[in-house]
Amino acid sequence: MENMVNIFLFGKKYSVPENLTIMTAMEYAGYQLVRGCGCRNGFCGACATIYRIKGDRELKACLACQTKVEDNMYIATLPFFPLVKQGYDIEKIPTTEAVMMQLYPEIYSCIGCNACTKSCTQELNVMQYIAYAQRGDFEKCAEESFDCVMCGVCSSRCPAGISHPQVAMLARRINGKYLAPGCGHLNDRVKEIKNGDFKELIEALMQKPIEEMKELYNTREIEK
Ligand code: FES
Repeated sequence: MENMVNIFLFGKKYSVPENLTIMTAMEYAGYQLVRGCGCRNGFCGACATIYRIKGDRELKACLACQTKVEDNMYIATLPFFPLVKQGYDIEKIPTTEAVMMQLYPEIYSCIGCNACTKSCTQELNVMQYIAYAQRGDFEKCAEESFDCVMCGVCSSRCPAGISHPQVAMLARRINGKYLAPGCGHLNDRVKEIKNGDFKELIEALMQKPIEEMKELYNTREIEK
């Protein structure tokens, strides 16, 4: 007999096996997940969730696909959070801190409360990467934010209305396009592909059974 725990989904009580994740517990309880569910492996950020354990004042955030249920867990999912997403042409924007002032000026209103870092489902130092963005250190911002899954929980807690994941995305784009060392042979390979040099090889590969493709992929030569 499985051990059961009581959880509350959107205020309604359910008894579910204790070894389930929040996501699988929702399905066990009969929810069909159409939104708020993607990769099921902690990468896509679609399953942001907030919860509180009965008797505990702290409101916690997590990814539903990565977090086990607990007894007396009050759960609400956050399938989408409305971040501010500015449009820009990466070919034309300035690569100095002026770009942040222009597109995401709210980052300069950060009051240093650290609520973003405390709520990050990936345990990133969000406030720190925003500080890097403020001073135009895009390389460090990109590195510090690299594991962001854009779940938006940090922004939901921010009193300054900062859309941290979008700020970090801009920094990573600037870093990738203008600051990180280029990869010459990758450019050459893209040109060769566009030129059709690998057309026959690609078509032959596409005809192979999936198992053979997996084997080829797993035993491929990996560049140093
Ligand atoms: S479903 Fe993709 S991170 Fe949870």
